[in-house]
Amino acid sequence: MMRLALPKGRNLPTTLEALRAAGLGLDGFGTNGRKLWSTVVEDDLEVLLLKDWDVPLYVEYGVADFGVVGSDVLDEMDGDLLVPARLREGGCRLSLIGPEGSLPAAGAQIRLASKYPNLARQLVASRPWSAEIVRLSGSVELGPLLSLTEVALDIVQTGATLRENGLVELEVVAEVQPCLVFNRASYQRHRERLNELVRNLEEKGQVI
Ligand code: PRP
Repeated sequence: MMRLALPKGRNLPTTLEALRAAGLGLDGFGTNGRKLWSTVVEDDLEVLLLKDWDVPLYVEYGVADFGVVGSDVLDEMDGDLLVPARLREGGCRLSLIGPEGSLPAAGAQIRLASKYPNLARQLVASRPWSAEIVRLSGSVELGPLLSLTEVALDIVQTGATLRENGLVELEVVAEVQPCLVFNRASYQRHRERLNELVRNLEEKGQVI
């Protein structure tokens, strides 16, 4: 039996859809309830529901054999995982956001809010302005909205959060997709089954 780690955020429904299209039943998931760990006998799987940021840790340490997690989280954490596929649905953008016209000018010294301090530092290093990174855990839009910072580096999916708070996307920094990730040792042990999963996802048009 293998263990699958899934993020319980807003992309859970589309992630489940992709995995089901690829042949997993995953009965009982995607419904309401607080169950965090279930055995799905028909799929010969145990499924863990985790916070996005914890998925790479469970998979890298081998507690889970494989999982699904956003490329934003993978890039920020820089773990040692195999990434055999990026899923088609559930994409978003990592963008510089702020009030209209707040893109920093060359030479400016500003503050930048983000849940992604490493990616934020990389971004700033490539810009003609400099920024102190203010690490926030959520509701990042409030940073520039309340002048804690001038701008923020955050996820934009539907754009609703920006619209409802009077902010704009100043620049798209990266396209983000949910990624299938494998633990390296698990891939050696379950190569056939995991390769079949990737093949099925490809055949069903679930990957980009
Ligand atoms: C993310 C992100 C934005 C929002 C963008 O937050 O940080 O706030 O989604 O999505 P939208 O463009 O569809 O409005 P999330 O909902 O994950 O919660 P958080 O603020 O607690 O991080």
